[in-house]
Amino acid sequence: NNDRSVDENSKNRQLDEFRRDNSEQYLTTEQGVRIGNTDDSLKAGSRGPTLMEDFHFREKMTHFDHESMPERVVHARGSGAHGYFQPYDDSLKKFTKAKFLTNPDSKTPVFVRFSTVVGSRGSSDTVRDVRGFATKFYTEEGTYDLVGNNIPVFFIQDSNKFPDLVHAIKPMPDSEIPQATAAHDTFWDFASLMPETTHMIMWILSDRAIPRSFRMMDGFGVHTFRFVNEAGKGTFVKFHWKPKLGVHSLVWDESQKLGGKDPDWLRRDLWEAIEQGDYPQFELCVQLVPEEDELKYDFDLLDATKIIPEELVPLQPVGLMTLNRNPDNFFAETEQVAFHPGNLVPGIDVTNDPLLQGRLFSYVDTQLNRFGSANFTELPINRPVVPVNNNQGAGFMRYTIDKGKVNYWPNSLGGGSPKMAPESEGAYVHYTEKVEGYKIRARSASFKDHYSQATLFWNSMSEVEKEHIVSAAHFELGKVETKEIRERMVGQFSKVSMELARRVAAGIGVQVPENFEQESTAHYEENAASKAISKGKK
Ligand code: HEM
Repeated sequence: NNDRSVDENSKNRQLDEFRRDNSEQYLTTEQGVRIGNTDDSLKAGSRGPTLMEDFHFREKMTHFDHESMPERVVHARGSGAHGYFQPYDDSLKKFTKAKFLTNPDSKTPVFVRFSTVVGSRGSSDTVRDVRGFATKFYTEEGTYDLVGNNIPVFFIQDSNKFPDLVHAIKPMPDSEIPQATAAHDTFWDFASLMPETTHMIMWILSDRAIPRSFRMMDGFGVHTFRFVNEAGKGTFVKFHWKPKLGVHSLVWDESQKLGGKDPDWLRRDLWEAIEQGDYPQFELCVQLVPEEDELKYDFDLLDATKIIPEELVPLQPVGLMTLNRNPDNFFAETEQVAFHPGNLVPGIDVTNDPLLQGRLFSYVDTQLNRFGSANFTELPINRPVVPVNNNQGAGFMRYTIDKGKVNYWPNSLGGGSPKMAPESEGAYVHYTEKVEGYKIRARSASFKDHYSQATLFWNSMSEVEKEHIVSAAHFELGKVETKEIRERMVGQFSKVSMELARRVAAGIGVQVPENFEQESTAHYEENAASKAISKGKK
């Protein structure tokens, strides 16, 4: 079957093949044998030992014993919803050949998973944290994942720092005492030693990190991605989701109280809104930068700790996503969904952002650990709505039964192996970008400015918002026992704004250090491209 047409209900119809309602059915074993008593195990005498031959007991207990899977190493706690995406018009056609973004008649099914990052699966919803905003578009050209967050920048510039970042922010390795908030010495130790985290720290201390509702938060692709049009021309693109309800946050006191009284606050809010037909909607917007302008800005487009200010490149609305259906089963859908920033469709490609490049390796790698099998792509929630044909028909838990005696390419025997698609038939073609350079374990010096955009953020805040940032810093850093770390963090703030540094210092028993400088442990290479950026020309 080569049918690649998709409508808003395609995924739902596909899932229907896997759904079942057990309510009017007899209880059976996994083999379909009917069971009349599931209350008592088989014994040698009513007061005797349980018999090994009790296949119903063995199977029931074995299945239960294996009922969990490793939780995600980050973003373990999440909530999912189904829906669809529809572009407003075909105006993006000039920039991308991705059909789901350019055909206003298309309604592409989506599955979204919102998440917190640090806490375990059973943690509280309302903690101060980044929120994940991951969208799976089941398009007619294959599945595209936009795996984003609700904050437009990230803590680090190079994926090689990700394990360090996560180790610093997760519970302590000795006691496993978690942080109900982002506060304990290890995280602030790391942040204070890594100037590149400063911009994101400003966002994390702001009200953005305690959203009132998943329906009321932004989403960002964070990295600069690349659109590619029919002619093969590339354009840099940043993705934004804008909630129709506007962005709203909790205040810290609410967040703490809810953490105790209703740790499922965000999950419940999303579920109930959808149940009562109050469908969350998000507008997809893009910022487009012509390739010729790659080196035009005083920051590097490949640096994920930077935004493109909207004054420089305005947002362009593209289409609307509506979330209109709750999952039937949390485990089968929300837990088993597997996102991956490398799930791309023709018309969308990656860039050399060194954070994105590392993510392209990490997601499938971790999913192999989470699922234990390369065949997780066949699970109902993960399978594309278009046909999947390849020669990878083996491995643990293979579900599809590929017919034929040939599973290699090229072959002259026929029968089995699928054929190659030309580009005109939708084959994905990687963007032809010229790449050259010396092998070097370093970053471009154009990534070196860690404070300007943090300052921009601070200056854009109202007085109430500033007050919230300062009191968040008092709360978080007030729990840091090591005075040097508190001081060093205030030093970082002094590079953002002296006013901020003074206000934070006043609440945590330290002075603002004079002439503070914190060298990054990263190596910045003053190469030709970064020199060109600082001169404002290519
Ligand atoms: C989940 C790695 C940066 C957004 C994950 C997972 C890993 C991971 C291992 C768990 C995936 C799973 O078990 O299925 C990394 C690495 C990063 C990075 C190595 C940097 C080098 C980012 C950034 C964003 C992001 C910058 C946002 C733009 C997400 C989201 C999820 C996730 C939303 C949860 C997906 C879901 O709901 O299942 N990440 N991540 N990550 N990551 Fe990242």
